[in-house]
Amino acid sequence: MINKVVLAYSGGLDTSVIVHWLKKNYNCEVITYTADLGQGENLDEIKEKALRVGASKAYVEDVKKEFLEEYVMPSLRMGAKYEGKYILSTALARPLITKKLIDIANKENADAIAHGSTGKGNDQVRFEVSAAYLAPEIKVIAPVRDWELKSREEEIEYAKKYNIPISITKESPYSIDRNIWGVSIECGVLENPENEPPEDAYLLTKSPEESPDEPAYVSIGFDRSRPVTIDGKEMDIVDVVHHLNDLASLYGIGRTDIVENRLVGIKSREIYEAPAATVLYEAKRALEELILDRESMHLKDMLSVKYAELVYYGLWFTPLREALDEFSSKLLANLTGEVKLKLYKGNCTVISRKSPYSLYDIKLATYEKEDIFDQKQGEAFCNIWGLPLRVQGKLKKSK
Ligand code: ARG
Repeated sequence: MINKVVLAYSGGLDTSVIVHWLKKNYNCEVITYTADLGQGENLDEIKEKALRVGASKAYVEDVKKEFLEEYVMPSLRMGAKYEGKYILSTALARPLITKKLIDIANKENADAIAHGSTGKGNDQVRFEVSAAYLAPEIKVIAPVRDWELKSREEEIEYAKKYNIPISITKESPYSIDRNIWGVSIECGVLENPENEPPEDAYLLTKSPEESPDEPAYVSIGFDRSRPVTIDGKEMDIVDVVHHLNDLASLYGIGRTDIVENRLVGIKSREIYEAPAATVLYEAKRALEELILDRESMHLKDMLSVKYAELVYYGLWFTPLREALDEFSSKLLANLTGEVKLKLYKGNCTVISRKSPYSLYDIKLATYEKEDIFDQKQGEAFCNIWGLPLRVQGKLKKSK
């Protein structure tokens, strides 16, 4: 028996039909929750829509700041990219949405939460694994996995049959998930990995071909691994990301095309747009190059692969992820400084960097007369560094 369900509601066709389907199948009350993550839609309209299609209550909440601060910043700090490319914009949002669903379920005394994810994607896992930790006893309902509706047409039929007041908008040929950190785009012609993504698949970015013929320059200031200024002007994190999204998308920056390994074992062709994220990853990396010693940097790079897996796999609420966050926060406590980048035709290149904690010493690095490095010591260094190889080489020769 289920009395009340809290549904993650996007305002789209799927979740609108789900409101009705839940009420019909469980004879329960449905409360919707919509997170404003910067998906660029009218949230007031979504709230009205939820009530119109039968929700008893509709929560809408701006969580952009919380998303960036608590989920995105730790991932940026770690430099996490799944399979070397995907900055995890969708994956990072799921644990946050789940947390909100659970909070409301507790407040409203609901006995279940529901989501609109399919049975072959990653998002179902992220919702359900997060819920398993946050509310081990709660039931999670995934109607799209359970119902008989096989296509968009059948969903529209269903809506007609039960008089669900949906507005049938022109169908996008793609499946899109968007938030302030990035856009994930799949399906349609993209399903064939041999097809070049058509221009209309991209939501944010100009094509490099159509971007300005003159480069743009931007300076980003970091304070303890957080981007805090743009061109010297202090900005709130939400403004930093908005500003960089606007600027970098104009220059065709942040497009990625990947065939990725999904959690359920399927390979999936997907394209992403993440203009601000791309700039911030490059900028943050440039400061790491200055402030981290070699071994720290190499270990961090290895762990960032693991971190990306944890996020992608839905394992956000784990002691391992928390421990890795403490690791990166300690290691990058000195990531303070300023980086200047050049944006041009799809490329974003660091051209200048400085930090009060820089380990770069020009007196050691220079080949000019100011050089203080004693090159004679190079000989002893080579001898001792190569000692084990000399021993092995001798043995090999004697055999
Ligand atoms: N493949 C990405 C991920 O697993 C994005 C999935 C987003 N969903 C979508 N409807 N495009 O995080």
